Amino acid sequence: MELESLRDLIRDVPDFPSKGIIFRDLTTMLKNGEALRVMSKELAALYRDKGITKVVGIESRGFIGGSILAYELGAGFVPARKPGKLPSVTIKKAYAKEYGVDTIELHSDAITSEDVVVIHDDLLATGGTMQACYELVKSMNPKRVYINFIVELTALNGRDTLPQDCEVTSLLKY
Ligand code: PRP
Ligand code: ADE
Repeated sequence: MELESLRDLIRDVPDFPSKGIIFRDLTTMLKNGEALRVMSKELAALYRDKGITKVVGIESRGFIGGSILAYELGAGFVPARKPGKLPSVTIKKAYAKEYGVDTIELHSDAITSEDVVVIHDDLLATGGTMQACYELVKSMNPKRVYINFIVELTALNGRDTLPQDCEVTSLLKY
């Protein structure tokens, strides 16, 4: 199976979670074993030679690909969570996304200055979620930060809101 075939397995759901939003539903791709394998190998190939020590996955859909990527790279996994879920000391940031507002939290000891980090999420829409997470990660002074998505919604120009000095990749552009 080719990477581009994954596109055919992603379902468009109009007016979810609110009117006017076309929701790109990855569950129809994830439930296909061959597609999940292709997605995993393609993600890993992008970061294999970058010395990644930690993958940050954004709750909740970013936990799926983020865990797979961390496993494939032999890196650690760090969850970036919605508010009130992490048990120890956290740093947090509020943000706006395509269909609402939210807050993201990380454990304050999750990343060190020795780390090379890739932040992973399933989808880039306006970029609000990733921008907030990037700021939290950067505040822990890692050596380097990369950003990765499975799907990028180019019409929303989310990429332009992300730091220009940061390498951003996505597997499929819409
Ligand atoms: C979705 C998606 C990204 C974010 C993208 O998550 O998984 O995290 O929105 O939107 P943005 O680029 O406009 O910020 P959502 O907050 O719906 O949470 P979920 O993963 O728990 O479904
Ligand atoms: N997160 C933000 N916007 C989205 C969309 N259009 N489809 C799926 N997830 C999203």
